[in-house]
Amino acid sequence: MNPFHYEGFAIEEQFYGREAELAKIQKLVDGSNNLLLYSKRRMGKSSLIKELMHRNKDNFYTIYCDIFDIASKEEFASILLKALAKVHRGDLKTIVSNLKKYFKRITFGITVDPNTAEISYMPRLEGLSFDEMIEEFFEGLFLLSKEKRVIFAIDEFQQISLLESKIDALLRKYMQESYPISYIFAGSKRHSITSLFTYSAPLYEMATHMELGGLDSMSVYAYASKYLAINEATVNYLIQLCDYETKLMQHILHILYNAHKDSTITPMMIDVALSEILGDKNSSYTLLYDTFALTQKKAFKVITSDIENIFSLDTLKTYNIQKASLASALKQLYLKEIIDKEEDRWFVPDRTLELWGKRILNR
Ligand SMILES: Nc1ncnc2c1ncn2[C@@H]1O[C@H](COP(=O)(O)OP(=O)(O)OP(=O)(O)O)[C@@H](O)[C@H]1O
Ligand SMILES: [Mg+2]
Repeated sequence: MNPFHYEGFAIEEQFYGREAELAKIQKLVDGSNNLLLYSKRRMGKSSLIKELMHRNKDNFYTIYCDIFDIASKEEFASILLKALAKVHRGDLKTIVSNLKKYFKRITFGITVDPNTAEISYMPRLEGLSFDEMIEEFFEGLFLLSKEKRVIFAIDEFQQISLLESKIDALLRKYMQESYPISYIFAGSKRHSITSLFTYSAPLYEMATHMELGGLDSMSVYAYASKYLAINEATVNYLIQLCDYETKLMQHILHILYNAHKDSTITPMMIDVALSEILGDKNSSYTLLYDTFALTQKKAFKVITSDIENIFSLDTLKTYNIQKASLASALKQLYLKEIIDKEEDRWFVPDRTLELWGKRILNR
C-alpha cells in the first residue's frame, strides 16, 4: 500500500507530524474548552480533527460533521442530528432504544447498507421548527455528555454565514451551558470564518483560535525518508514548491512512491510528478479560466507570474491593462474566491492552481 495519503482523511499510521498542535488541542479538550481551527485550503484541518478524535475515542464521545453543502438551516440541523444519532452503536435493538432515550420529539429512519453493514440515520423533522430541531439536538448532546465527555466538531463552519438565520447566536446560547463538551469549529475561508468570531459577533471569545500552518519540514523528512530514498534538501525543495500545502505535497510523494521507491529521489523527479498532476488538472482549470472575463484573465496571469510589483507601469503595459481595471478584476477574482489577499499582497490560495498559472499560462 502507498503510505502517502492525499485524499480524504489521513489518520492513524498514515497521519504524521502535528504533535505540537495535537498537544495544544488536547489541553483544550481535556478542559472542555472550545477551538476555532482555520487555515488555507488543504493544509490538514480535517485530518487533524479526525486524528484527535481517533486518539480520544475511548474517553470521549466524538462527533464530527461537515456542513460544506448545507443550503438551508434545516439541512444544518439535520446534519447535526444525524451525526449525534451515529454515536449510538450496537445491535439494532440497542440503537433504537438509545435513540428513544436521547431524542424526545424526533424519530429516525434507519437503513443498513447491505454491502458495508454501515448504518445511516435519517431524522424525521416534519412539523418541527428550526429552533425545535436545534433544541432537540442540544438536549440529546447534553444528556450524552453526562455519560462521557464529548468532542463535537463542525467542519467548514464558515458555511453558516451563507444562511440568513442567526445560527451563531443560537449556538452561543447552548454553548454557554456548562457541560463537559468541547466544540471545535473548523474552516478554510479565512476571512469569513474568523469574522464569525470577531468582537461584537455572537461567538466572540467563545473559542481559542488556532491557525494551522504547514507540516514542519522535520516531520515531513522523518516520514518521507522512511519510505523513500530522499534527503533533507530534496524534501525542502518539495515543501517550497508546494508552498506548504499538505495535499499537494502528499500527492507528489504518492506519485514518487509509485514510480521511484527504489531510486534516490531528485528535484527533477519532483518536477515531473508535478507536471503529471498539472496535466491531469489542465482541462478543469482551463474550464475555470474560460469563465473569467478578459480583464480577470489578465489579472490572474499577472498574479501567477513572478512579477513583484503588479501595478508597475511596465506590468500594466505588458499586459495592456489599466491600473483601475486590474484592481477591479482582482477584486472580482477575490469575490469568486479564486484569489486572496494578505497584507496588501494578492495570492492564489490553491497552490496547484497557482502553479498551473505559473507553469502553463505563463510559460
Ligand atoms: N498530518 C498529516 N499526515 C499525512 N497526511 C496528511 C496530514 N494532514 C493532511 N494530510 C493529507 O492532506 C490532504 C488534505 O488534508 P485535509 O483534507 O485534512 O485538509 P483540510 O485543511 O481539511 O482541507 P480543506 O480545506 O480541503 O478542507 C488529506 O487528504 C490527507 O491525505
Ligand atoms: Mg477539510
